[in-house]
Amino acid sequence: MKHPQTPFPVTGYYGPDYFCNRESELEQLTRCVRGGQSATLVALRRLGKTALIKHLFYHIQSQYTTIYLDILPTESTNELLNRLSTAIIRAHAEKAGFGKKAWDLIRSLRPVISYDPLSGQPQVSLRVSSEESRKTLADLITLLETHTQPVVIALDEFQQILEYPEKQTDAWLRAVVHELRNVHFIFSGSQQHIMADLFMNPERPFYRSTHFMKIGKLEKSVYREFIIRKFAEKGKSVSGDVVDSMLQWTELHTYYVQLLCNRVFLSSGKKITEDTWREEAGRMLKEQEFVFFGYREMLTKAQWDLLKAIALEGKVYQPTSSAFITAHSLGNPSTVLRSLQALERMDLVYREVDREGVTYYGVYDVLFARWMST
Ligand SMILES: Nc1ncnc2c1ncn2[C@@H]1O[C@H](COP(=O)(O)OP(=O)(O)OP(=O)(O)O)[C@@H](O)[C@H]1O
Ligand SMILES: [Mg+2]
Repeated sequence: MKHPQTPFPVTGYYGPDYFCNRESELEQLTRCVRGGQSATLVALRRLGKTALIKHLFYHIQSQYTTIYLDILPTESTNELLNRLSTAIIRAHAEKAGFGKKAWDLIRSLRPVISYDPLSGQPQVSLRVSSEESRKTLADLITLLETHTQPVVIALDEFQQILEYPEKQTDAWLRAVVHELRNVHFIFSGSQQHIMADLFMNPERPFYRSTHFMKIGKLEKSVYREFIIRKFAEKGKSVSGDVVDSMLQWTELHTYYVQLLCNRVFLSSGKKITEDTWREEAGRMLKEQEFVFFGYREMLTKAQWDLLKAIALEGKVYQPTSSAFITAHSLGNPSTVLRSLQALERMDLVYREVDREGVTYYGVYDVLFARWMST
């Protein structure tokens, strides 16, 4: 496995050395895989769903054939088929056994197969009707059923299938996966209410057909120890208190924690103090300003005002209450509600339930929240 440039990578998965904890999540997922059950992973954006799937695959890869598909960029069943075909032929040589069967099946559809000039990896492109895409996808998945190893397919950003022009993709897919014995799935997504509707609504085809897992933030003390250790391994010292204030600033949100640590790692000497990291954090906010002004350009005045208000408050339990509206001069409740829905759709604001089961809203971009409050 490649090494990242710092002990705190902000994209990709580099093996267990760079991955903090998630032991109980890993154990649950492994239990599902071993027991032949599919699983659903749900979490706020940038908390570490994709990395967790890669972490699981790292641990099971000697006994399982693992296929990871990020379906966010796909817009139809045809594109899903192209992704799956590409993943399968990349993982299997053409010569014999399963690989030969898979290549034969894909070739029979007269695909365009191109090769990435840098990596030499093949890429499949088929242009077939919706009907034929479904049939071929089902054939490919059924072919995986004959694989000598059990197969785990991760469909990341699974809620995207609802955007396909084909109707009832979930019903169709559920019918295909229902009978499988050798192939199991991990469905992962960040649009939590959509994922919950897909898997927890009795009127939906996937209703309770998987082990449903909600991923939260990493535990503070565990992340703290991890960060201190990773700095120490590279000859840099940092105290628990300093790490705690970094964790507070980043709201323990994995991506932002990693980003801050990454930057502090690069800009620091042997000892990291409160001043060291605050200075770097200030630089980050300055660099991001054009992104924040971009939000303002993209939004209506009402949406922008609401975004700022939520950023200032941190957590907002009752966005349409007169207390909140008056404190931030937001007009009337129906405008706030409409703006809120728009901000949620744009992934600028998330909706979450706290430990008591009460719903609140927060802004996704932790850096924006910090920028607002300075
Ligand atoms: N347990 C962890 N320990 C260390 N770094 C982690 C951990 N989990 C995730 N990361 C890092 O945090 C970043 C965000 O994680 P990841 O991309 O997996 O989140 P995600 O939930 O899939 O986000 P998105 O919703 O944007 O797809 C990644 O760069 C990853 O390397
Ligand atoms: Mg992801």
